[in-house]
Formats: sequence, C-alpha cells, structure tokens
Amino acid sequence: MSPRNRLPPWHEQLHLPNGREVLIRPIRPDDAGPLRAAFPLLQPDEIRQRFLFAMKELSEEQATKLTHPDPRTEFALVVAEPLAPGEALVGAVARAAIAPGTREAEFAILVSHYINGMGLGRQLMRRLVRWSKGKKLERLYGDVLEHNHPMLQLAQSLGFHRESANSPGLVRVVLDLH
Ligand SMILES: CC(C)(COP(=O)(O)OP(=O)(O)OC[C@H]1O[C@@H](n2cnc3c(N)ncnc32)[C@H](O)[C@@H]1OP(=O)(O)O)[C@@H](O)C(=O)NCCC(=O)NCCS
Repeated sequence: MSPRNRLPPWHEQLHLPNGREVLIRPIRPDDAGPLRAAFPLLQPDEIRQRFLFAMKELSEEQATKLTHPDPRTEFALVVAEPLAPGEALVGAVARAAIAPGTREAEFAILVSHYINGMGLGRQLMRRLVRWSKGKKLERLYGDVLEHNHPMLQLAQSLGFHRESANSPGLVRVVLDLH
C-alpha cells in the first residue's frame, strides 16, 4: 500500500494489494446510509466479534450515533471507496471513545471480509492509538472474544497486554499510552 497526494488530516488514500483504491478518513454523517445498507452483507461472526452479540441490522439510531462522534470524546475512521460520502461503500469502521470520567478510551473495529487481511486493521488501530496519545489518554482498551485470534494477534503485535474483562468469554486488551 502506498500513501497518495496531500489530503486533509486523518485522510489517506491507499492502493490495496488486490488493486482496489480506498480512502481512510474520518466517518461522516452521510456514511449512515451506506453503513446500514452494507450491514446485511457482513458475516454473523464478524458482527458478533465487533458488537459481542448477534445483530440482524444496524438501526437508524445506531448508525446516527456511529456517524456523529463527539469530537471531544470520540474518534471514528472508515475505509471507504474514494467517492463522496453517501455514495461511497464503507468496508471498515474503527472507533475509540473516552469512557466518561476516565483518561481511558475503548476501541472497537470491524474490517469486513471483503478487504481484510491486507493491513487495514493494523493501519486503523495505529491511528486510534495516535488519536488517543494526542488526547493525552492513559490507556486504550478493547474487549475481545477469547477465540478471536486475529484481533488478539493484532493487539499483541501492537503492544497491547491482556487483562480480565470481568465477563466470561471476553479478554480485555490494553495499551498503556505513556
Ligand atoms: C481483527 C480485524 C480487525 C483484523 O483486520 P485486518 O484488516 O484483517 O488485519 P490486518 O490485515 O491489518 O492484519 C493485522 C494483524 O492481525 C492479525 N491477523 C489478521 N488476520 C488474521 C488471521 N486470520 N489469523 C491470525 N491473525 C490474523 C495478524 O497479527 C496480522 O498481522 P500480520 O499480517 O503481520 O500477520 C478483522 O479481522 C475484523 O474486523 N474482524 C471482525 C471484527 C473484530 O474482530 N473486531 C475486534 C473486536 S472490537
């Protein structure tokens, strides 16, 4: 993958190994429609790994929340087609949200099977870490199903350690940001 041109902050156009051009950029309100439309194309396992339970659809309310991050406490990136928001298909979403009253953020990420295995999960996680450091947070953490080897591997390779998630079947992966 190779970065292209000069783009606004947190934007990067990438050429994937399979020939696709994609844009990593902050999520936009107009992404709500494409996100809801693409949700049924996800595999049940992907949805369970991301949301930690089964979901048949992304409700309008959930899509609105996801696409309107509060810039003081939330950050969300997508990997999308390099088209106008609203027209662009969205293939991945990664977000971090500061837990109220703490200096810690929780992350969640989903790179759909159409574009996984090409380095995008790592790229997105690195950006969540960069945003968290920019906010001077102490820790970035996420709760991961204990059999979700790809995410556990990815987290470990980025320096996250494991803690108990206080919930059976879950592992909390934590990165100390200092
Ligand atoms: C986990 C997930 C984000 C990885 O995204 P991705 O774009 O495929 O990841 P990358 O291509 O950047 O790979 C990064 C690392 O992840 C790990 N990884 C990815 N796919 C893997 C697999 N099938 N088996 C084992 N490890 C894997 C590896 O450590 C890999 O590093 P390497 O390429 O140097 O070996 C993606 O599979 C996903 O969204 N899964 C469903 C949702 C989810 O699990 N979310 C996490 C909980 S919030």
